[in-house]
This record gives sequence, C-alpha cells and structure tokens, in this order.
Amino acid sequence: MRNKQELIRIEPLETKHHCGILEIVERLPEWFDETARTKSVPTDLRHQLGYVAVSNHRVVGFVTLYVTEGRLHIGWLGVEKELQRQGLGSRLLGAAESKALQMDIDQLATYTLGDSVTYQPYEVTRNFYWKHGFKVYKRSRTDNPGCPEEIWISKQVKP
Ligand SMILES: CC(C)(COP(=O)(O)OP(=O)(O)OC[C@H]1O[C@@H](n2cnc3c(N)ncnc32)[C@H](O)[C@@H]1OP(=O)(O)O)[C@@H](O)C(=O)NCCC(=O)NCCS
Repeated sequence: MRNKQELIRIEPLETKHHCGILEIVERLPEWFDETARTKSVPTDLRHQLGYVAVSNHRVVGFVTLYVTEGRLHIGWLGVEKELQRQGLGSRLLGAAESKALQMDIDQLATYTLGDSVTYQPYEVTRNFYWKHGFKVYKRSRTDNPGCPEEIWISKQVKP
C-alpha cells in the first residue's frame, strides 16, 4: 500500500488548476485576506509560473513564482488545511528550487509578515521558511495596519 504523499503529484501550474487554487485560498482566510482572495491571487495566477500538488485530480497545494531583481520570488504558497504538516509545502518548495536552478538563478526569495508582529498563522509561515534555511535580507515598515512590518527573506539555491 503506497502512502498518501506518494499519491500526491507535483505538476507545473496550468490554467486548468486556477479554480482549485482559488478554492484552497478561500479556505485559508487567516492567511489570504479578501483582497488577496478576490483580486491579487486571481490576477497573479494569470501571470506567474508555478507548481501544484494534485491528489486524485484535485489541487491540494500550490506555489506561484516570478522573477524579480535577479531572484526567483514565491508569489503565493498554500496547502489544503487537512494536508498541512505532511511535507507537501516542502515538496512544492523543492520544485521551486529546482526551477531556480534550471533558470540559472541562485536565490529563491519571498516576503512575509514581519516577526515583530504577533499573529499566530504567520508564525507557522515563518517557521516553514526558517526550517528551509531562508534568512532575512531586508525589513520594511508599511502603512498597512494589517501588515505594519514586512520581512524580505531569501535562500541560496546554488553555491
Ligand atoms: C506554509 C505552508 C505552505 C507549509 O506547508 P506544509 O505542507 O504544512 O509544510 P511541511 O509539512 O512541508 O513543513 C515543513 C516544516 O515547516 C515547519 N512547519 C510547518 N507547519 C508548521 C506548524 N503548523 N507549526 C510549526 N512549524 C511548522 C516545520 O518545521 C515543518 O517541519 P517538521 O514537520 O519536520 O517539523 C502551510 O502551512 C500553509 O499552507 N500555510 C498557509 C498559507 C501560507 O502561509 N502561505 C505563505 C504566504 S502566501
């Protein structure tokens, strides 16, 4: 009997996956606010590359990617709640790292809620990135009360 993870495949993101991704985002409101759910994610999906985790024809996780300032940036990342903490986010990140190497880009990066802000859901997000060796390379204050500090984090994917 194969385990659950083996039955979940990581595939390149295609238009046919957009609805499934938006359904996951709807179910993760602690991380994706209304603007993200209704505008930012749907728009970005049309313009970013990425990967999805697919189980039995259903999208259960995703990562979107774009190139900026010489780095491959993670735009959006999410795993269906009941499948979190089972290694799926790590597999999606692995696919993103392989893509960076394939594109001859040496850093994977993203930004997220700063660690000066107490908000438990994003502590999970930061723990995930710390576990994978991301380090802060920039901090910025914003005038968004929901996100007063952003941290910009990156990881070297090749020596
Ligand atoms: C971040 C996220 C994608 C991680 O996916 P995941 O499949 O749960 O992650 P993994 O199972 O691969 O976890 C890898 C490591 O991350 C850390 N981690 C993951 N979930 C954690 C949690 N709930 N609490 C503490 N650490 C956690 C752990 O170090 C874990 O390793 P371990 O299980 O060996 O201790 C997932 O939590 C998620 O979808 N979060 C909501 C959306 C989000 O934060 N998106 C990013 C901003 S757009």
